[in-house]
Amino acid sequence: MPSLVIVGAQWGDEGKGKIVDYLTSNADWVVRFHGGNNAGHTLVVNGVKTKLHLIPSGILRHQAKNLIGAGVVLNPFVLLQEIAGLRASGIEVTPERLIIDREASLLLPYHEALDRARESALGDKKIGTTGRGVGPAYEDRAARCGLRVADFTDLATLEDKFRSSLALKAKVLLSLYQSEDKINPDQQWAALAEAREQLLPHIGNGSLLLEGALKRNERVVFEGAQGTFLDPVFGTVPFVTSSSTLAGAATTGCGVGPRALDFVLGVVKAYTTRVGSGPFPTELIDDSGDLLRARGAEYGTTTGRPRRCGWFDVMVLKRAVRLNGLDALALTKLDVLSGFKKIRVCVGYKLEGKVLDDMPALSHELDRVEPQYVDLDGWNEDLTGIKAWADLPAAARSYIGAIAEMVGCPISAVSVAAERRAMLFSENAGFINEFIG
Ligand code: GDP
Ligand code: IMO
Ligand code: MG
Repeated sequence: MPSLVIVGAQWGDEGKGKIVDYLTSNADWVVRFHGGNNAGHTLVVNGVKTKLHLIPSGILRHQAKNLIGAGVVLNPFVLLQEIAGLRASGIEVTPERLIIDREASLLLPYHEALDRARESALGDKKIGTTGRGVGPAYEDRAARCGLRVADFTDLATLEDKFRSSLALKAKVLLSLYQSEDKINPDQQWAALAEAREQLLPHIGNGSLLLEGALKRNERVVFEGAQGTFLDPVFGTVPFVTSSSTLAGAATTGCGVGPRALDFVLGVVKAYTTRVGSGPFPTELIDDSGDLLRARGAEYGTTTGRPRRCGWFDVMVLKRAVRLNGLDALALTKLDVLSGFKKIRVCVGYKLEGKVLDDMPALSHELDRVEPQYVDLDGWNEDLTGIKAWADLPAAARSYIGAIAEMVGCPISAVSVAAERRAMLFSENAGFINEFIG
């Protein structure tokens, strides 16, 4: 059975969690391949909301094994809280159902402290990170000085590595940011040793497990976090995250080769949002933007910050199709657009009178592009109860058709409410239907 990669095609929060949850009804494995608890993925099943930050969005599917891949930076304390929260709501989280790759990196409290100190030092130039320590944890990986989950399996060297990292980071925090860690090293070590004890049974060899799974033809979903334009190479640098958010990262983020990826699905909102700083050509700082935020409940799952809202941007999506090799799109939150008389779609950019063939690489240029809009007809009907594609209002179907055509990628699935079951599939959803089947 083929494997499926699911990534965000905009700036994150596209509804990846919902789509992953839906498409894992028969999956054997769900693998998070990058990022950390900067992510917030929301699942709604029969009115019950589950928010996940580190645990893959297959956890509500009893048959699925969930792997936190080597590409992830893992905060052990946040993971334990998340496990406890799920167990409290009756979800089974056993070492068989939740595996942490031994090669994943550890994100520790000093990374959070560094992230926050740095952001506050940047003042109005700040990135607007989630403050979860993700950047500093990836820096340690690149600098070859970070701790890994594998270090949990050797208590003696773990203590040594942890105490020396902590001491070094305390120096950096004090000398560069005049920030002092108030918790003493013994207390910090005791907390980590306790967390380690609880997580030990979950540690596994992810790439070996996946090799077996793929040989047995099991169904594997690779779950992305963040979104294409938060990628640190191809995104809106420097207002990006620190791990590759593109579909290709599914291979390096869990130790499988590129041939293991059969189908790449991009998740995209029917409009655009972003949280934190950075360029956003179609942003609406007006009543329409406020309306999108209110109707779409656009507040961050992780930090609660209001999300910036704007129109759909074809330039963004065309680039996402290219960077990820998207085979199809899942369009979410179409219901939020009900009631707009006209819906604007950005179809191109001009900069100083010149038509651009792609998004500029410099953020300050992207800030200055003039979006070229077309206006499409809106609809008034409430979409949230619609059960079949054919029952969508004609104007909604035209909107879907027009953006698929302009973007150059089929839209195979549409989501019309947060609830799991609110999904519609088009006639071209062959692969996806087979995958769920
Ligand atoms: P993710 O980070 O990509 O998983 O997305 P988030 O969970 O951070 O944000 C998406 C939000 O939209 C969540 O609150 C979802 O419950 C909600 N959502 C997902 N799909 C739909 C939809 O089709 N309609 C509406 N109204 N809400 C949706
Ligand atoms: P999910 O998986 C939306 C944004 C932050 C900030 C930038 C860098 O829920 O889609 P970081 O903490 O990663 O150093 O912040 O990236 N960001 C997200 N925005 N959704 C996310 O994840 C995000 N994860 C990080 O707001 O602009
Ligand atoms: Mg999110």
